[in-house]
Amino acid sequence: MKVIYRPATVRDAEALALLEQECFGAHAWSEDALTESLLKYNYRFFVAAEVDDDGEETGNIPGYVGMYIVAAEGNITNVAVTGPARGQGIGRGLLQALCDYSKKTDCIALTLEVRVSNTPALKLYRSFGFESAGVRKNFYEDPVEDAEIMWLHFAV
Ligand SMILES: CC(C)(COP(=O)(O)OP(=O)(O)OC[C@H]1O[C@@H](n2cnc3c(N)ncnc32)[C@H](O)[C@@H]1OP(=O)(O)O)[C@@H](O)C(=O)NCCC(=O)NCCS
Repeated sequence: MKVIYRPATVRDAEALALLEQECFGAHAWSEDALTESLLKYNYRFFVAAEVDDDGEETGNIPGYVGMYIVAAEGNITNVAVTGPARGQGIGRGLLQALCDYSKKTDCIALTLEVRVSNTPALKLYRSFGFESAGVRKNFYEDPVEDAEIMWLHFAV
């Protein structure tokens, strides 16, 4: 699948809500919550948008990533790639888009929480240089699980 990485807009909210539903079920962000965040000045979202051979978007959004920024630190809130599109480099492309944007805008670090059992996500984050900064006990519900807190500090 050929994709481009671009900033998300409110027009993507419906597609992102479907992705959320597929990837996070009961914990999914709703379309309303996504629309609200997409309009906030300190949130940034990037999508992977499928394109055809002419480079035109097909309307299929196989993945997205999002963060909010406080005091030059980006807090990653969402990383999701639809099941059939996983393992093709889209998660890596999305994270790269977020890192490139962060460096360009003088963000000094990125942080996130991830389920300790989420091996694909942990491997992805570690490959970007994210390091564990501790564990939040029982951070997640349904099922209850610890969260690994990870940080990536950019060289200044
Ligand atoms: C985590 C997730 C975003 C990865 O997206 P993806 O597009 O499949 O990832 P990529 O194809 O770009 O792979 C990048 C790296 O991630 C790791 N990875 C991806 N899938 C993996 C798997 N099944 N097992 C182990 N490592 C995996 C590898 O390090 C891989 O690098 P490599 O191909 O050089 O080995 C995707 O699995 C997903 O959406 N999962 C459900 C939602 C979720 O858990 N989000 C994270 C919440 S914190």
